[in-house]
Formats: sequence, C-alpha cells, structure tokens
Amino acid sequence: MVLHCRSKFADDCDCTKLTCRHNVELRYPSRPGVLSLAGVSIHMERGKSYAFCGTSGAGKSSILAVLQRFYNITSGSITLDGKDIRAMDVKEYRNMMGYVSQEPVLFEETIRWNLLVCPGCTHEVFDSD
Ligand SMILES: Nc1ncnc2c1ncn2[C@@H]1O[C@H](COP(=O)(O)OP(=O)(O)OP(=O)(O)O)[C@@H](O)[C@H]1O
Ligand SMILES: [Mg+2]
Repeated sequence: MVLHCRSKFADDCDCTKLTCRHNVELRYPSRPGVLSLAGVSIHMERGKSYAFCGTSGAGKSSILAVLQRFYNITSGSITLDGKDIRAMDVKEYRNMMGYVSQEPVLFEETIRWNLLVCPGCTHEVFDSD
C-alpha cells in the first residue's frame, strides 16, 4: 500500500503519519464472536517501508483491510495526521492510496501501467513521488 496526497485533503492532510492505537480490534461482521485483530498498535511515517510478518491467519490482510476502510474497527482508533480516518470521506481517503493485494489481478501490460489504473492517477503523479 502506498500513500500519496493528491486529493481535496491536501490542504489539511499531508499524509505524514498513519497511526493505529488504543488497542485496535476487529471483529468481522460475519464472525462477531471472533476477535480477528487485537492489541494492534502501529505508527507509520511517510516515505518509509513497513513489513507485516506473521503466520497464516495472524491478521496481516485484516490490518490492510481496516487501513483501507473495508471494515470498521470495533475498538481503538486509526488516524491519518491526527484525523480519524472514519471522519474522512471514504472516496477521498482511498484516492490517497495505492494498493496491490495479496492475490492481485494484473492486466496484460507493464507493472507501471497496472499501477496507474486508478482514478486520477497520471504519469506525472508517479514521476514526482
Ligand atoms: N472476510 C473475512 N470474514 C471473516 N473472517 C475473516 C475474513 N478475513 C479474514 N478473516 C479471519 O481473520 C483472521 C486473520 O486473517 P487474515 O486473512 O488477516 O490473516 P493473514 O495474516 O493475512 O493470513 P495469510 O498469511 O494466510 O494471508 C483469521 O482468523 C481469518 O479467518
Ligand atoms: Mg493475508
């Protein structure tokens, strides 16, 4: 997942710090009795690379899912530059990120071409980032 700031939020958000804190938890709606994420605390800074390591089922994909707001966390908070991501317009929020999933679907073009398949993405954006 790559964060970049090319959206209406650019004025009050420069995508420098993505933080999960206060004991982030996730219970999937289909399995409310199961705690799929528990005790998650992460602080990520712009321009750095992070790896999530762990056994199958540890919750790596679930962390990426909540960071993209595919699911709402059931406890804790996730903030981008101090702003709760749930308070942001979800479309605008997702416009600030690029994501290649665990099992990606690739079109028959270059990797670069595939990365540019998103609303508002141009070669100019990627050349400058
Ligand atoms: N969509 C879903 N609905 C319900 N439970 C889910 C869903 N996705 C994942 N889980 C559960 O959440 C827990 C964490 O799974 P997750 O897929 O995040 O692990 P992972 O670390 O990415 O594993 P892997 O290395 O196999 O990809 C598991 O118990 C899994 O069964
Ligand atoms: Mg996974």
